[in-house]
Amino acid sequence: AMLARAALRTVATPSARLFSSSAARQTKVAVLGAGGGIGQPLSLLLKNEPLVTSLSLYDIRGAPGVAADVSHVDTGSEVTGYAADQLDQALEGVEVVVIPAGVPRKPGMTRDDLFNTNASIVRDLAAAVGRVSPSAHILVISNPVNSTVPIVAATLEKAGVFDPRRLFGITTLDVVRAQRFLAGLVESDPAKTPVTVVGGHSGATIVPLLSQSAYGKAVTGEKYEKLVHRIQFGGDEVVKAKDGAGSATLSMAYAGARFTSALLKGLNGEKGVVTPTFVKSPLFADQGIDFFSSPVELGPNGVEKIHPIGPISAEEEKLLKACLPELKKNIEKGKAFAA
Ligand code: NAI
Repeated sequence: AMLARAALRTVATPSARLFSSSAARQTKVAVLGAGGGIGQPLSLLLKNEPLVTSLSLYDIRGAPGVAADVSHVDTGSEVTGYAADQLDQALEGVEVVVIPAGVPRKPGMTRDDLFNTNASIVRDLAAAVGRVSPSAHILVISNPVNSTVPIVAATLEKAGVFDPRRLFGITTLDVVRAQRFLAGLVESDPAKTPVTVVGGHSGATIVPLLSQSAYGKAVTGEKYEKLVHRIQFGGDEVVKAKDGAGSATLSMAYAGARFTSALLKGLNGEKGVVTPTFVKSPLFADQGIDFFSSPVELGPNGVEKIHPIGPISAEEEKLLKACLPELKKNIEKGKAFAA
């Protein structure tokens, strides 16, 4: 039993290290919820990320199996799986913690319907990070992101270790969807169709700034309305198609890996890494909204610079007006829970 409970550990051979692409620094990344629908493909994608040197996979079930599987991929990083009672070990020496732990939506549910289950899961995981690896960067995927990020902040604040430069809600899937949907509509290459999405991560709090893109500006009238709705409620398409089996996992893993990769580039000193993410933000703090997603420059300390949302159209003013009160409610709900 002792053996079975022991962490499964696979160490990269010295030769694999020698020939691995030369990462500027050692980066240990943990995935909490690694056995889940998002956690598994996310772990795989992170195994393929050259800036990750060590991958620590934790879940209340299934992580050692996922770790054994992923560890056979022939990249340089070492992979370790941890069982339910090994959370503290999983977090030892970790610099980046990605959290996709928690329940996903079923048809007819909003992200807020997940609050009761996921709020305490995220709070408890955040408390463990604050205790074991207080200087780690925390990347929150668990929904409702608009509330779970403030919960993590309040939990770390209570522990006296909160640094707003190191906490991120992952809203990248909204950006990925916006780029894909817009590119499909105007028949462009999605990689060359960047779209900035600001606000939060649920329904009306998702605000795509299509007017800031040459392609986006060309979409007007009913086509525009439909595109905005699809970006805001794209997650529902997946929930409906999966018919009770969950929500987006594969596209989310892709988005999660993309954001993690951007952060790692910033931590490694690469300049000009800018991407939208939901952070503690001064932009709308005067309206009592102290978390907001806008383009953020990532650097050696995490959040380097929070950019303003920039010039927006009259339609986008309306979207923002609808976003703010809902976002405020979501943030306050998270804070009230954590208090
Ligand atoms: P899932 O149910 O397939 O996986 C969740 C995993 O979390 C399970 O393996 C479960 O054992 C684990 N877990 C539960 N409690 C835990 C704890 N205390 N510690 C460690 N692990 C724990 O769900 P799925 O599809 O992977 O979704 C996970 C979360 O991600 C959901 O809250 C979902 O709403 C959210 N999500 C967020 C998106 C975003 O854009 N930010 C997009 C899609 C989903």
